[in-house]
Amino acid sequence: MIVIETVAEMQQFARDHRGEIALVPTMGYLHQGHASLLREARKRATLVVLSIFVNPTQFGVNEDLDSYPQDLERDLSLAREEGVDVVFVPKPLDMYPAGFKSWLVVEEVTKELCGASRPGHFRGVTTVVAKLFNIVTPKLAFFGQKDYQQLAVIRRMVQDFNMDLEIVGMPIIRDRDGVALSSHNSRLDPVQRKSAPCLSQALMAARVAFRDGAASLHELRRAALDPIQARCRAELDYLEFRDPDTLLPSYRVDGRMLVALAVRFGPVRLIDNCILGEE
Ligand code: PAJ
Repeated sequence: MIVIETVAEMQQFARDHRGEIALVPTMGYLHQGHASLLREARKRATLVVLSIFVNPTQFGVNEDLDSYPQDLERDLSLAREEGVDVVFVPKPLDMYPAGFKSWLVVEEVTKELCGASRPGHFRGVTTVVAKLFNIVTPKLAFFGQKDYQQLAVIRRMVQDFNMDLEIVGMPIIRDRDGVALSSHNSRLDPVQRKSAPCLSQALMAARVAFRDGAASLHELRRAALDPIQARCRAELDYLEFRDPDTLLPSYRVDGRMLVALAVRFGPVRLIDNCILGEE
């Protein structure tokens, strides 16, 4: 496994291996969710590039970029175990040199859900992901459905800008108690961590109500809110029922629906989602 720390070297490597690369973009502090993307990438390409970059432009002013967890040594050993070929770890000033002035903005699909509570977040995500695509020139790139809106935004960007690669969406990997794995989970205190299953329990409750033939969105919503209000000391950011493809609001119970929610435990914000009408 090689570790590349500069954009110039990464571009040289990419020039020598065009058409062979699968990219897994991450912000590090890797867990089994990231590992599942690496494993699929390993199956589908000759060369697997893992990028680790805590992207400053996707953090809001009130979001703590400095407290984002980091452990490069551990990440490198997980990458080695998963058979990664190249770990790309650029420095912020190499990605955003003085004078940087360009942004890639996807409209509409970025406005609501996480976009509403995190202004500017998706502009940072699309800009850095477009830069990574330009630098690494992958033929495949892997993203988790855990960040469902992020995946939808990236698919929109790739289509709208004729980016010549395939985006692969991967299922959510969960802890034994149902909590979706996330680098943010490490910032929960023990009491909060014990409450964290309320997100997946809310999704499960919506799933049960849907299966039992809930007649209205109001009913589904009430079922999903119950585990959060009854058993969890967290503040609900949003709970939304949406079309899984367009992310437009659902106004009635439909054959397939995305349920997405975000919950705050103090400064830590957790998200989760599932699709109703799909097993
Ligand atoms: P990060 O949060 O590190 O996540 C990297 C990738 O891992 C994303 O595609 C995310 O959806 C996926 N992932 C995270 N937790 C997962 C889980 N429990 N199951 C399956 N996949 C999971 O998302 C980002 O970084 C950044 O926004 C990035 C795309 C790298 C741009 O900076």
